[in-house]
Amino acid sequence: MVKIEDIRGGRLPTHVALIMDGNGRWAKQRGLSRTEGHRKGANRVRDIIDTCLELHIPYVSFFAFSTENWQRPQEEVNVLMDLLSQALDKYADEAIEKQIKLIVLGDFNRLPEHVKGRLAKVQEKTKDFDRLKVILALNYSGRWDILEGARRLINHVRQNPDFDPNTLTEEIFRKFMPGGDIPDPDLLIRTSGELRISNFYLWQLAYTELYFTPVFWPDFDKNEFLKAIADWQQRERRFGKISEQITTKDG
Ligand code: IPE
Ligand code: IPE
Ligand code: MG
Repeated sequence: MVKIEDIRGGRLPTHVALIMDGNGRWAKQRGLSRTEGHRKGANRVRDIIDTCLELHIPYVSFFAFSTENWQRPQEEVNVLMDLLSQALDKYADEAIEKQIKLIVLGDFNRLPEHVKGRLAKVQEKTKDFDRLKVILALNYSGRWDILEGARRLINHVRQNPDFDPNTLTEEIFRKFMPGGDIPDPDLLIRTSGELRISNFYLWQLAYTELYFTPVFWPDFDKNEFLKAIADWQQRERRFGKISEQITTKDG
C-alpha cells in the first residue's frame, strides 16, 4: 500500500489526466455484461476526485467518451449516456458541497438532450468554484480540439484582418483552443494495458509523463492512483535540457 503521507511529502502534479479504459474486459472476465463494467467504472471516478481533493491537486481530467466511441453499438452508447446523466444527478450536490468546478470539453452538439441539459446545469452551478477543476472530456478528440482552435483563430482573423501571422505563438494559439486556460497535464494515466493515446489530448501531452497500467478501470482504486503518482514523483522531467540543468524540484 502506498501511504498518502509519503505522497504528500513530495512534489505533486498540477494536472492529472486519465484515460478510463477496460470496463468491457473487466466485465467479460467476470461473465458480466459490458453495462455492468461501465456501471462499476462510473463509480470509480469519485474515489479519484476525492484523492485529488485530499492531495490538493487542482486539475483532473477524465476521458469519458471519445468522438470515435459513437461507432459502438447504439445500445452501449445509450447505456454510457444514461450512466452519465445518472452520475450528474447523483453527484451534483456533492460537487457543490466540495467546491468542485465541472468543465466539459468536447463537441457538445451531438450529445443527447438529457445529457446536455444536466451538464449545462452543473456547469452553471459550479462555475465560480476553484478548489478542484474536474474536466470531463466528452465527445472529445485531440484532433477536434486543435481544429476547433484553428476555427476560432480564423474567426478572430476575419474580425481582425491586420493580424500578423508571424506573431502567432504556441501560447497565443493555445488560448484559442477550447480549455485554453487549463495547464497541460503533468501526468497521463491509461488503464487496461493499452499503450496508446486514442486521440485524447494531443497538443497538451507534448511533455506529459505517461503511466500505463494493466489494471482495468473498474479496479483502479485509490491505491492504484497513489502508485501512479508515486511513480511520477520519481521521474526527472528534463523538457529537453540535460540532467545537470535540472536544479529545481518543482518541475
Ligand atoms: C472504457 O472501457 C469506457 C469507454 C471507452 C467509454 P471500454 O468500454 O473501452 O472497455 P474495453 O476497452 O472494451 O475493455
Ligand atoms: C479511449 O478508450 C476512450 C475513452 C476512454 C473514453 P477506447 O476503448 O475507446 O480506445 P481504443 O478504441 O481501444 O483505442
Ligand atoms: Mg476500451
